[in-house]
Amino acid sequence: KILILDFGAQYTQLIARRIREAGVYCEIWAWDHNPADIAAYAPKGIILSGGPESTTEAGSPRAPQEVFAQNVPVLGICYGMQTMAMQFGGLVESGHHREFGAAVVNVDRPCALLEGINDATGQPPRLNVWMSHGDRVTRVPDGFTVTASTDTVPIVAMADERRRYYGVQFHPEVTHTQSGEALLARFVKDICGCRALWTAANIIDDQIARVRAQVGDDEVLLGLSGGVDSSVVAALLHKAIGDKLTCVFVDTGLLRWQEGDQVMAMFAEHMGVKVIRVNAAERYFAALKGVDEPEAKRKIIGRLFVEIFEEESAKLSNVKWLAQGTIYPDVIESAGSKTGKAHVIKSHHNVGGLPEHMKLGLVEPLRELFKDEVRRIGVELGLPPHMVYRHPFPGPGLGVRILGEVKAEYAELLAKADAIFIDELRKSGWYDKTSQAFAVFLPVKSVGVVGDARAYEWVIALRAVETVDFMTAHWAHLPYELLGTVSNRIINELKGVSRVVYDISGKPPATIEWE
Ligand code: XMP
Repeated sequence: KILILDFGAQYTQLIARRIREAGVYCEIWAWDHNPADIAAYAPKGIILSGGPESTTEAGSPRAPQEVFAQNVPVLGICYGMQTMAMQFGGLVESGHHREFGAAVVNVDRPCALLEGINDATGQPPRLNVWMSHGDRVTRVPDGFTVTASTDTVPIVAMADERRRYYGVQFHPEVTHTQSGEALLARFVKDICGCRALWTAANIIDDQIARVRAQVGDDEVLLGLSGGVDSSVVAALLHKAIGDKLTCVFVDTGLLRWQEGDQVMAMFAEHMGVKVIRVNAAERYFAALKGVDEPEAKRKIIGRLFVEIFEEESAKLSNVKWLAQGTIYPDVIESAGSKTGKAHVIKSHHNVGGLPEHMKLGLVEPLRELFKDEVRRIGVELGLPPHMVYRHPFPGPGLGVRILGEVKAEYAELLAKADAIFIDELRKSGWYDKTSQAFAVFLPVKSVGVVGDARAYEWVIALRAVETVDFMTAHWAHLPYELLGTVSNRIINELKGVSRVVYDISGKPPATIEWE
């Protein structure tokens, strides 16, 4: 296993994902994590990430001495390289032009890290890389040699082959760096000697053993939402503890079209998981009556979920554990904070305020996994890929896609319109090209002519976006023909809708959801 010390770069999680993709387990710790833990963790190699600060400023973060006391290879990336240079007596200067974007690196002196690594043109010793830095190393410490440069920056990589310390100024973790993955794989496998054991099948076996050891013969409760994470937890726990697992699935009436039936068909009928389905649509619509403010709706939906979940769990007498679909990005400690995010409870369908009095222990088998790993083990566990690779769906569901007051009649129209849209996206191959796509119900009536009669009916808006992190997003340039087909189908198949519009706003300033 590998340890990544995070100096606060936006790319740190990418480093971890690339290494995991190479089949090697790694964890991200904040740079100021208790250094005494490093020896106990016993990493086979350590990576120092990039970071937003300048090593030239007093009080800027440094790698703890324990990093260099482990006698394992160390790779510094960007800030990580700079602080390593400083700590061993080299020189870093700021005030140069900020370099951001693509650059071509000349490998001047092959080292174990860069040897034979070349870009897609197969032309060593040049690499197309991604840079993002203001400071630069201007003198390498004793024992190090300069291994690569660009036309404008003389030192972009350094190595001390004896101690196996390496530094690169560019970012091998971003996909713009050609062979970046190969470089990271070279470090963790060849230089650190890690084997590629982190595979979907191994993760599953390992988690099954851990869950069994944790819960023994006790009963475990899980809130199944139909989303990817809780679905994978259900499949995994079912495999680990069989009918000691009980799932509660709350059908809020605000889910995707026929989602409740699909969840039951998949888990209860097909896999034989114990699932208690609670048909709570009427309770939700009653609670939401007359409420049109989005945050108020969210609170009601969240609170009702907790209430119902509690009622159901109170009926089960032997449950000792609560399973959750917490994933690694929810728990990674943030750099610069002593306290970290030690234990964040998922806000999505928040089961956090739950049965205090029941004194349930937490079972979180996805706690160490990134979303792409969760998906891979989901497929390995036999869940259908179309379910595991679904677009995200917000916890409050259609409750925030029906603008203003939520009514059963609106929810039904919207769920059907959404299903038509998704169906056409899948058929045309656009589903996987978009990150999230859905329909929105606009409670405004517009005039239309249906047959010979004037109709006065509702409007459906379509939204499809492309995004990597959901913080910013572009609207998807869906073909006009596709939009036309979706519009025709919605208007023809759904009584009550006479107009369909397409949302062409980016985020920012618009958000992805309409509420
Ligand atoms: P926005 O609308 O903020 O959405 O651009 C970004 C992402 O978050 C999802 N989203 C939510 N998910 N509960 C959730 O679980 C919510 O209240 C909520 N609001 C937005 C949204 O679907 C998108 O993926």
